Amino acid sequence: MKERVFHCINVEQFDYAFLEEICDLADKIREISRTKAGMEYLASTLNHKRAMLYFVQPSTRTFLSFYSACQMLGIKCAEVRDPKTSSEIKGESEEDTVRTFSLYFDLIIMRHPRANFAEKIAYLLNKTDHPVPVINAGSGKDQHPTQALLDIYTLRRSFMHRGGVAQKKIAFVGDLRRGRTVRSLAKLLTQFEEMKLYFVAPAEYQIGEDIIAFLEQNKTEYEITDDFEKVVPEVDAIYMTRLQDEWDQEEGGHVDIDIERYSFQRRHLDLLKPDGIIMHPLPRRTEIAAEVDGDPRAAYWRQVRNGMYIRVALIAGIFQRDRKILEYYLSNNL
Ligand code: CP
Repeated sequence: MKERVFHCINVEQFDYAFLEEICDLADKIREISRTKAGMEYLASTLNHKRAMLYFVQPSTRTFLSFYSACQMLGIKCAEVRDPKTSSEIKGESEEDTVRTFSLYFDLIIMRHPRANFAEKIAYLLNKTDHPVPVINAGSGKDQHPTQALLDIYTLRRSFMHRGGVAQKKIAFVGDLRRGRTVRSLAKLLTQFEEMKLYFVAPAEYQIGEDIIAFLEQNKTEYEITDDFEKVVPEVDAIYMTRLQDEWDQEEGGHVDIDIERYSFQRRHLDLLKPDGIIMHPLPRRTEIAAEVDGDPRAAYWRQVRNGMYIRVALIAGIFQRDRKILEYYLSNNL
């Protein structure tokens, strides 16, 4: 990769060239990892490094895919998932806690409920004599940059025989106001030509004004609607999301709306384009019926797998092993 992403904090860091490079690298890593020799090669590339996974918000996929990505590159991992098990319980600040990690580990991957915490830590570590890369694995209601990378990777693979991601129509459905995956992906899609984004939600959960301003600034077409049935046949990809009700308490309570109107049921498969895809960052509740899973257009389990490869590529790039991996790929005629 030409541009080194030292800290990975938000999607504004990524341009089109970076997206192309990291997706190409992820494809090659996927090929290399198909053989024992390839896996052994990958595991030798960063086996002198250690990573801390500091996840103080719940996670299944992001935690495990980063864990697996580190394992694939030979990186040894440690984790803090419950701050009650660290000295934060004795009153140590989160900033001091993470600074302590930087003295033992070469990489900090963090999920945190505060919107700008990863950015703040990256800034703080830059001022120390031992800065290490920070990867934002989900920050508050704001950003989830590596989810957006895996979503772009999934779109790219899904549309590789249809001219790629550009000129596609993509609908976001559900709790868009508090969905950090939607916010990050909507911003990143402005890197592609002639996109049209649809935001399908009740007024209470519609996409934020800041994202709309970003789209307008970047000349990306969009439509705001609450008509799910109308949008399904129009789009190339439909990105479902769950109600993010873990934020209800801090927002002063639950808003009672009929979220079932924004769910993808078996009957919607007949409305979706034959080459359209259904995405979801997961976890899901009822917003996609389980009987949809078997349809080839259901891309959400592929997203999960893609997340591991794109995170291997990201970490390899951060530690400048991308060129070596490409050389291995070429020299082994893969
Ligand atoms: N998509 C995603 O972030 O899933 P987890 O919350 O399980 O990590």
